[in-house]
Amino acid sequence: MVDRVGVIGAGYVGLTTAACLTHLGHDVLCIDSDQSKVDELGQGEVAIAEPGLTELVRDGLICGRLRFSTAMNGLAAVDVVLLCLPTPKGEGGEADVRILEEVVATLPGLLAPGCVVVTKSTVPVGTGNRLAELLRDAGLPVVGNPEFLREGHAVEDFLRPDRIVLGASEEDQAAAERVAALYGETDAPVWFTDPSSAELAKYASNAFLALKLSYVNILAELCEHHGADIRDVGRLIGLDSRIGPAFLRPGPGWGGSCLPKDTAALLRTAERAGVDFGMLRDAMKANARQQAAVVRKIRLAITGTPDGSLAGVRIGLLGLAFKAGTGDLRDSPALAIARELARSGAVLTGYDPGVESAEPDVVQVVDDPYLVAKDAEALVVLTEWPEFRELDWTRLAAAAERAVVVDTRNLLDPAAVGEAGFSHTRLGIDGHG
Ligand code: UGA
Repeated sequence: MVDRVGVIGAGYVGLTTAACLTHLGHDVLCIDSDQSKVDELGQGEVAIAEPGLTELVRDGLICGRLRFSTAMNGLAAVDVVLLCLPTPKGEGGEADVRILEEVVATLPGLLAPGCVVVTKSTVPVGTGNRLAELLRDAGLPVVGNPEFLREGHAVEDFLRPDRIVLGASEEDQAAAERVAALYGETDAPVWFTDPSSAELAKYASNAFLALKLSYVNILAELCEHHGADIRDVGRLIGLDSRIGPAFLRPGPGWGGSCLPKDTAALLRTAERAGVDFGMLRDAMKANARQQAAVVRKIRLAITGTPDGSLAGVRIGLLGLAFKAGTGDLRDSPALAIARELARSGAVLTGYDPGVESAEPDVVQVVDDPYLVAKDAEALVVLTEWPEFRELDWTRLAAAAERAVVVDTRNLLDPAAVGEAGFSHTRLGIDGHG
């Protein structure tokens, strides 16, 4: 069945949702308050770098089933409206739902009775029940349908999800079925539950990934002490089907706009409930320590001691984004490490295929990876872009003042960097014990 769908918010979740639902055959009106963004999207110009997204938006515009507007009154004609609004980190640590609440307050005057209101945004546990109460008198059922989209894989994750979660009260079960039907035929488990379970499942997934990563980062440190290899240890743990192979690579710390925010929010939710979830606090502390440990590794590689001075030392950074495949600098461990190096007096140049500019008082961003090596006393790989492996390491060595590389993603080919004369420091591989 073709539904008339409204999507409020044209950020990476909203735009992906709008474009993918159009692709699945629905009629979609996507609303955003930013007029210039709406104008650009109407021309098929997509500012968000998500593989496949521009094509889907353009296809939707051409077939006429995807429209963009700033005018909320167009929502009067939709059967389902999906809220894809930002829920930034609030003061206490939990997500701030003020933007969402302001929009929800306008819905009774806008939507036709029976229109299903869907929350895609990550919202604190209890929000769905509260919204359902607010909207019940207006005859608007509420369904929580949390998004599980990775940046850089959003379209793929929307169209081939691991699971589809629908959280609704007993009275709103028919509405939940209607939302499930939007996804059409799917191999994914479609799971109906209550609103709070859906909300908690979203936080718990991201926080679990954060726990897994802090666990592996600490294990990597232990590997170094015992001359073990974290790649083997990670692979061997991951072969246990109860654990799984993903998210077992050490790195400079976990970042981005979701894992840090959602882990802190879940901890706050637990505190409010009087539940001791100290392991989340430990994972967050371990993440901060990981960044400090990487800075010490860099100092050690350059000066021979973990506390050596970096005053005036030129360092080239390969990667600034929080992960490969995105230019996103929000809560990027790479940028946090850069700030710390700059505070210690290092002079930084950085290259990232997804980043055009960063904090100019911290790092000078250049558009050529070979320029970061110029006169550098060390290169540091901070983001796992595969193309860094393919660089001409002999050319980088020739440009650098000293052939030293610290590889916080265990990405580079040791033979290639070794042949070029680089000393190569990795995480959890080269024992120092
Ligand atoms: C995360 C979740 O993975 C998505 O499922 C979720 O929908 C999304 O948040 C969200 O809440 O919207 P994302 O923020 O795009 O997605 O980032 P991830 O791919 O989860 O990566 C998080 C961090 O873990 C990055 O800093 C990455 O470099 C790091 N990482 C990942 C490692 O250090 N090692 C690994 O093995 C894997």
